[in-house]
Amino acid sequence: MKVKGKYMKSILSVAMLAVALCGCTGKDDTLKMITEATFPPYEFLRGQEIVGIDVEICRAVAQRLNRPFKAETVDFDSVIPAVISGKADLAAAGITITEDRKKNVDFSIPYVKTGIVVISKKSNLFQTTDQLKGKKIGVQSGTTSENYVLEQLQQEPERSKSPAEAVAALKAGRVAFVIADIDPAKNCVKGDDELALSDFITSEEYAVAIRKGQPELLAAINATIAELKANGTLAKWIADFTAESDSLKDK
Ligand code: ARG
Repeated sequence: MKVKGKYMKSILSVAMLAVALCGCTGKDDTLKMITEATFPPYEFLRGQEIVGIDVEICRAVAQRLNRPFKAETVDFDSVIPAVISGKADLAAAGITITEDRKKNVDFSIPYVKTGIVVISKKSNLFQTTDQLKGKKIGVQSGTTSENYVLEQLQQEPERSKSPAEAVAALKAGRVAFVIADIDPAKNCVKGDDELALSDFITSEEYAVAIRKGQPELLAAINATIAELKANGTLAKWIADFTAESDSLKDK
């Protein structure tokens, strides 16, 4: 018994030393953002670094909470599951608020009003949604564009990993049209004389999504977004990251 007690004590002191060296309570306090970084200007890669409007919003939440911050990118289908399972704290990926998603996550107040558009070749210019019926339509997997094809057009879309990949399929003639959110769509079409963008075919709003039942975290996110909107910071980020992602295209 005595030996065992001593043994336990030394294990405990090693553990306590580890905690002290780590400078924390053993719990990782990092606020983890999950995103899908092929969606400029909201999130894209600057070299290896994930940057964009959504990243700055989440970093500002971490600053408010005085917590370290980290962003990670996965396929868009895996973004919302990552906050549900607790692998990440904040999902921010130009995520549209939908009734379906509201069943599984809580949404912050919206930070952008937007929608999806049709990208077409000028040689087969999109004018009315009748043109979409029965055609191969490229979308990013897991998005509201995919839902539009499934629900409004009642047909199977051609799924891609990113808006840019869907646009490459359009250019190669593998799909007739692409549906995507307007800002990444604008980025894809920029500098390409062959392609055109339609007006909005839906009206949507982006928000940050978190695991349900975290009123304090939700309040912190909402306060951050309200402040960034009111003081002009959000508008500045939109302008700056649009310019940066457009210029990355010119290279
Ligand atoms: N707004 C659309 C949606 O919520 C598309 C978002 C795609 N975002 C991304 N980072 N790839 O379904």
